[in-house]
Amino acid sequence: MAGILDGKKGIIFGALDERSLAWHVAARCQAEGAQVVLSNTETAIALGSVAQLAAEHDMPLIACDATKPEDITALFTRTQALLGGQVDSILHAVAQSTNLRRHKSYEQANYTYFQQTLDISALSLHKILHTAMEMDAIAENGSVVVLSYIASERYFYGYNDMADAKAMLESIARQFGALYGRKKGVRVNVVSQSPTPTKAGGGWKEIDFFYRYSDHLSPLGNADADDCAGVCVALFSDLMRKVTMQTIYSDGGFGRTILTPELVDDYREVDSRKLKEES
Ligand SMILES: NC(=O)c1ccc[n+]([C@@H]2O[C@H](COP(=O)([O-])OP(=O)(O)OC[C@H]3O[C@@H](n4cnc5c(N)ncnc54)[C@H](O)[C@@H]3O)[C@@H](O)[C@H]2O)c1
Repeated sequence: MAGILDGKKGIIFGALDERSLAWHVAARCQAEGAQVVLSNTETAIALGSVAQLAAEHDMPLIACDATKPEDITALFTRTQALLGGQVDSILHAVAQSTNLRRHKSYEQANYTYFQQTLDISALSLHKILHTAMEMDAIAENGSVVVLSYIASERYFYGYNDMADAKAMLESIARQFGALYGRKKGVRVNVVSQSPTPTKAGGGWKEIDFFYRYSDHLSPLGNADADDCAGVCVALFSDLMRKVTMQTIYSDGGFGRTILTPELVDDYREVDSRKLKEES
C-alpha cells in the first residue's frame, strides 16, 4: 500500500533514544514511505541509543551540532549525496536548558546557560533554515516542522528559560514561513505537544505531578509521542500543502481548557478541610 510520504526525503534532528519524539516521527515517516536521515550531536550519539536505532532501521545517521553552521552545511552536503538531491522535510526537535536541568529558578538563571538555551533551542532553527536557503537544500513545496510547548505563550511555573526559547523558536518559524514560502513554497509549522516522558521532557522537578494534571485537564488526555508523530507526518505530506506559519496543538485540548468539575471538587475538599481545622 502506498504511504503518504512515498518518494519524500527528510532530515530528522533530535532523536536521542526510543523515547524521543524525533524517533517516533522518524519511524512513522519511514513507515509512510519516506527516506530519512537522522542527526544529533556527537555526544548524544555516543551517550544515547540512536546509533543502534539507526542501524536497526537502516537510516543513515550524521553527527551535527545544530548550533554550528559549518556542521549544518556538512550535514546538508552529505545528505544530498546519500539521498540523491534536495530534502522535502525537516524536523527540528532540538532543545536543552542547563538552567532547567540544574533546577535554577527563573529569577536566578545563570546567563551563560541562558544564552546556550536560546542558541540550542531556538537559534539553531534559524541557522538550519538560513543554511538550507543558502544551499538551496529544501525542495520546492517542502515542509519544515518544529516541536514546541505551550509555555511559549502562557506562564508556566518551572519551565524557566525554555519558555523564552520556545517563544523565540516559534517566532523564527513564522518569519521563515513567510520568507521561505514566498521564495520556494516551503512551509514552516510548529507542533505544540503535550508533556511527554523523554529525556528533555523530564528535566523539570514537578514533572510527575504535571503529567497527571495535564492529562486530567485535557478533554482527550495527553497526546503521546505517536500522536505527535501522526501530526508531523500529516504536516510533511501534501495533504497540508497550504498550511504554513501555524501552531498545531497536539495536546488533547489542554490549551483550550481552564477548569473541570473535578478541579472544583478538589478545591471544595481543600476548603472544607481548612474550615474543619480552623473550628
Ligand atoms: N517531551 C515533552 O514533554 C515535550 C513537549 C513539547 C515539546 N517538546 C519538544 O520536543 C523536542 C524534542 O524533545 P524530546 O522531548 O523528544 O526530548 P529528547 O531529549 O529526546 O530530544 C531533545 C534532543 O535535542 C538534542 N540536542 C541538544 N542539543 C543539541 C544540539 N546542539 N544540536 C543538535 N541536537 C541537540 C538532544 O541530543 C536530544 O536528542 C524539543 O524541542 C522539546 O522541547 C517536548
